Amino acid sequence: MNNESNPGRSGQRIPNGMLQDNAPRNMWWIAAKGDEVSDQPLAKWLHNTPIVLYRLTDGTPVALDDRCPHRWAPLSEGVVKDDNIVCPYHGMEFGADGQCRKVPTQKIMPQNVCVRSYPVRESGAFLWIWMGDPESITEDPVDMSYTSDPGWSVVTGYYEVEANWVMIRENVLDLTHIAFLHANTFKQNDWVNPPEAYLEGDTVVYKQAFAAAPLSPLFCAGMGLPEDKPVERVQEGRMPSLAVSFSDWNVHDPAPEEGRRSDFLMRGCHIVTPSVEGKTHYYWAAAFDVPDIPDEVAKKTKASIIAAFDEDKALLEKMQSQISCDPRGMDYPEITLGADSAGVKVRQILNKKLAAEGRNL
Ligand code: FES
Ligand SMILES: [Fe+2]
Repeated sequence: MNNESNPGRSGQRIPNGMLQDNAPRNMWWIAAKGDEVSDQPLAKWLHNTPIVLYRLTDGTPVALDDRCPHRWAPLSEGVVKDDNIVCPYHGMEFGADGQCRKVPTQKIMPQNVCVRSYPVRESGAFLWIWMGDPESITEDPVDMSYTSDPGWSVVTGYYEVEANWVMIRENVLDLTHIAFLHANTFKQNDWVNPPEAYLEGDTVVYKQAFAAAPLSPLFCAGMGLPEDKPVERVQEGRMPSLAVSFSDWNVHDPAPEEGRRSDFLMRGCHIVTPSVEGKTHYYWAAAFDVPDIPDEVAKKTKASIIAAFDEDKALLEKMQSQISCDPRGMDYPEITLGADSAGVKVRQILNKKLAAEGRNL
């Protein structure tokens, strides 16, 4: 009997397992922004695993386990020399494939000495990693090429959030909190009745048109629109992977000033990757289909987005802390509203992916 037909077993009708390691491994996750990774080793915790990231001289990104197999020193404390990473402790060297290339203290190379090497792919401004079974790679990571396209102006940010990744994933697809939690920041207070989310394959999709109303001030500067001007908008969301979702703000100005554009797109992007237990890397990007927006506009946009996302971070961290401390844990009753259709689909996809890995929540 599964939990859906046995609500007594858990307070959640469809469990999201947020008090467990609930992240599928056989999928691409974002490891870093590409510009974080250089010929200097970078340490990251991803899926409860220490990882070192760096680039070869030709720019190829590399991801290895960040633990030397000799006495377990973090390789990220060492250096990259001639495309090998050199352990800081006793100088053993490892290639991009993880194989040991040199043991300075002896002439004979010990057999089968290696660290695990992970498949990585770069797309636009982001670097993807596959931490599951490499034999199970059947798809490319989600295309992020627009984030390095000069036709767009892209503002990005990062948080380490002390909450399970699925809580953030559900939050960014939860559209009805905008008019409440963000009433004083987003100020997009017409988003009370959400669209019905549906699936296109395994992609969660929603689409909703709004009558003319002032646009959230977060995005007016990037589009060069006055904050009080009524504009029409079509909101389109897509979650092609549990790791990333997009929120398109298609804006139509029905009365543009002489010589000005009437249509704009702002593509919001939300990226989550589990870090250590209870923590999540959360990258966001706001991309305007307006090339070369001035620095002061980008700075203003970034500051106002951060003010709004700080509200999510603060509340989600309090929720996670309370749920983690409460002995009733996941047995507390949880209701689902009609407005939660996108979040419900997230949980259905999560459960399906975990079941395919032989793991059940
Ligand atoms: S711990 Fe790395 S070489 Fe000894
Ligand atoms: Fe939010």
